[in-house]
Amino acid sequence: MNPYGYPTKELKEKEMPNRVVVGTQWGDEGKGKIVDILTEEADIVARFSGGANAGHTVVIDDQTFILHLIPTGILHPDKICVIGNGVVVDLEHLFYELDELRKRNITFQDRLLVSQSAHLVMPYHKVIERLEEEARGRNKIAPTGKGIGPAYRDKIARCGIRVIDIFNQNLFKQRVEWNLKTQNDFLKKLSRKELISLKKESLDVSKFRRRIKPFVSDTGLFLNEATKEGKNILFEGAQGALLDIDFGTYPFCTSSNTTVGAVCTGLGVPPTCIDEVIGVTKAYTTRVGNGPLLTEQQNEVGRLLQKGGNEFGATTGRPRRCGWLDLVILRYSFRINGITKIALTKLDVLDLFDKIKVCVGYKYKNKLMTEFTPDLSILENCKPVYEELPGWQKETHGITDFKDLPDKAKKYLDYITEKLEIPIFLISTGSKRDQIIFL
Ligand code: GDP
Ligand code: IMO
Ligand code: MG
Repeated sequence: MNPYGYPTKELKEKEMPNRVVVGTQWGDEGKGKIVDILTEEADIVARFSGGANAGHTVVIDDQTFILHLIPTGILHPDKICVIGNGVVVDLEHLFYELDELRKRNITFQDRLLVSQSAHLVMPYHKVIERLEEEARGRNKIAPTGKGIGPAYRDKIARCGIRVIDIFNQNLFKQRVEWNLKTQNDFLKKLSRKELISLKKESLDVSKFRRRIKPFVSDTGLFLNEATKEGKNILFEGAQGALLDIDFGTYPFCTSSNTTVGAVCTGLGVPPTCIDEVIGVTKAYTTRVGNGPLLTEQQNEVGRLLQKGGNEFGATTGRPRRCGWLDLVILRYSFRINGITKIALTKLDVLDLFDKIKVCVGYKYKNKLMTEFTPDLSILENCKPVYEELPGWQKETHGITDFKDLPDKAKKYLDYITEKLEIPIFLISTGSKRDQIIFL
């Protein structure tokens, strides 16, 4: 152990790894399912970024759960779940989600911790987001409508309200009033009556004070103490690398860091406590909302992917745009995240195709680009360069043993591993818990 209780390299080699699970594309890769499976081997599941914009689906027998703000680990009755300081918390939504879980006999007493330093998503954030989006005209970002952007904006502008601030009635009231006054520019479309009602609704958030109290904690300290006791943590990422505020397709991205660095800043743990970074990668590409998606197929292929993969947003129900796998963005996202293992999902959705294309580069002004660029004016004028592989046209849905996969499906997996130079350790062949192949 080092003086702060984090294990040294030698000690770590003997223990269960602390794993990070991140999305490597534009979100909705199937992180929920993978986190659910890996939770078996963890003591604690911790969310480090995003908020209720996430929608993580877990299918257990005939029951479907979609977790938004609460870590997916909550579905395992003996695991502790942490909502870290990097998450933006909508208290109304949190209690709604907890009530829904309670109705389905999922208990969470004494095993959910919410960081005292996490920022709150306030009712005015959602209204501001809507008005701002309306004003964007043709340049709409199409956010999830959960107030995420304005909440992170206030955090950075140092006028946000943290969970802990709800217990200081004066400070809470002052901040609400200040924010409504200074953000008037966004709110000027509202009538006086609507403004009064928004102010009341925002001040009313303090009513959750008593209910939230038992969950509030110094989660950074808790994780440190747990590590000292030899407990193992699974870090649950939200969104995907291309939605990262720094590395994504800015401004068509979310407002937080979704990549591995956010584990440390969003939970208060050092990088040395991360042992493995698992990149959840869909066997093709999807995105919800606006922004570049170079391999998008606005044709029969896209329709088949959408139908076969049931590609509708888990949070908003919007149809997801679909296209072929893009190795340019994957190599970029693997580099930023330091991915050590791939969890490949939705292989079964490709069962139908006689040919499968994979994008290996972009053509820009007759030159081949193999690195991602954040310059959208270039991206918009790039054309994907594809390699074509034969489809297997046999059912892989539900297969649990690697040797039962068709040879051509194995070839597709080999091809991906070779191109990305990272091993696949898990293949998902359906939405259910047991529809999985461990390699
Ligand atoms: P997340 O946000 O990354 O957790 O992903 P979502 O839950 O938003 O979307 C993934 C969707 O694909 C969900 O409906 C899952 O139930 C489903 N899913 C996950 N893995 C597989 C798979 O291997 N095959 C199929 N057909 N569906 C899957
Ligand atoms: P999970 O964790 C897919 C997208 C939105 C929008 C953009 C900005 O389920 O993978 P925001 O509300 O964050 O300001 O929206 O980001 N987006 C997601 N897309 N999966 C998600 O989360 C997403 N969270 C945000 O559609 O384009
Ligand atoms: Mg999702």
